Amino acid sequence: MPYYKKMGNIPHKRHTIFRRPDGKLYTEELFGVEGFSGIASLLYHYNPPVRAVRIQPCPEMSAALTPKVAPQDVQRHHHLKTGALPAGGDPIQARRILMFNNDIRMALARPTEQMPYYYRNSQADEMYFIHQGRGVFETVFGNLPYEPGDYVILPHGTTYRVVLDNANSPEGQRWFVSEAKGRIEVPHRYQNQYGQLLEHSPFCERDISGPAELAPIIEDPQTGREYEVVVRAADMVTAYYYETHPLDVVGWDGYLYPWRFNIRDFEPITGRIHQPPPVHQTFQGPNFVVCSFVPRKFDYHPEGIPAPYNHSNIDSEEMIYYVNGNFMSRKGMEIGSITMHPHGIPHGPAPGAAEASIGKEATEELAVMIDTFHPVYYTEAAMEIDDPSYPLSWYENDK
Ligand SMILES: [Fe+2]
Repeated sequence: MPYYKKMGNIPHKRHTIFRRPDGKLYTEELFGVEGFSGIASLLYHYNPPVRAVRIQPCPEMSAALTPKVAPQDVQRHHHLKTGALPAGGDPIQARRILMFNNDIRMALARPTEQMPYYYRNSQADEMYFIHQGRGVFETVFGNLPYEPGDYVILPHGTTYRVVLDNANSPEGQRWFVSEAKGRIEVPHRYQNQYGQLLEHSPFCERDISGPAELAPIIEDPQTGREYEVVVRAADMVTAYYYETHPLDVVGWDGYLYPWRFNIRDFEPITGRIHQPPPVHQTFQGPNFVVCSFVPRKFDYHPEGIPAPYNHSNIDSEEMIYYVNGNFMSRKGMEIGSITMHPHGIPHGPAPGAAEASIGKEATEELAVMIDTFHPVYYTEAAMEIDDPSYPLSWYENDK
């Protein structure tokens, strides 16, 4: 997040003497992007974070995280019924990648098992949208609890694990997880030249929070003890083993750290006539945007049509993940449904939706949209839950 945060104990000046209770030095780590010129934080580890005991490849994890392309023979719309995807696996290996390109991967995860290791995705910012479930992201920056509706943004390179609170998640864990080859950020157009969120932004700094507590795990090196950190970098998955705990940071400060924002805190922007999707924008990423469709009052022009108009996204793909409520423009959607309206062909509201929306005053819909500016590939996992009748639903349902 582009504002300064400090947690734990740090010395009064960077790169100066800072000693542990036993008299040894703490170990500084600059965690930053774009060399030494980008956004960064400065961390103080109890033990050096570089003393790997052994290193080995992770072929099984690598295979699980590699999308398997399902070639398409026609350009068409898709309706993916993710409710049919099975639950299982830990928070990383539970991901079922459905669509991807060089900028972003989109996956659905329904984890049931805890992580016995830590994970460090060094090649992609990660965005977890928590549809269902509670727990904690235990990160090198501290613990970040999550609940339904949260977007959790993890800068690439963050060492973490997710601890599932299954006892307080009666519906299980259901997440929509995206990975970006670049930074996932607050839209720059919502910020002034100082980085502060503008008055007309649909959310502000009060709605955003970083880790809630820093609880370093302090241990002296012990031969024979191993902590595993699975590192994803250079399209390889590598297991690093250390004899000290990776979450041993006693203090840090800076501008780069994991954070969360709950979709319920998105304040919708409405108008007298239909407002286009950019008013719903929540984040920006490399060649994609993330939008939140939240419960809101409809347009109030006496002759307004609240349902969206047909549109041709000539050169972008439009993914919508349906979270809750009766989605205004489209009947037949299930909780967890995904529609993908690709570039090159028009789409619009379901037959009759425009007429039916006239005079309606509000909607309870809740959905997450990601528009990518480059085409996506579909995976075998996506095709297993694809409804092939969907592309003709505008015709079939209008007879
Ligand atoms: Fe659309």
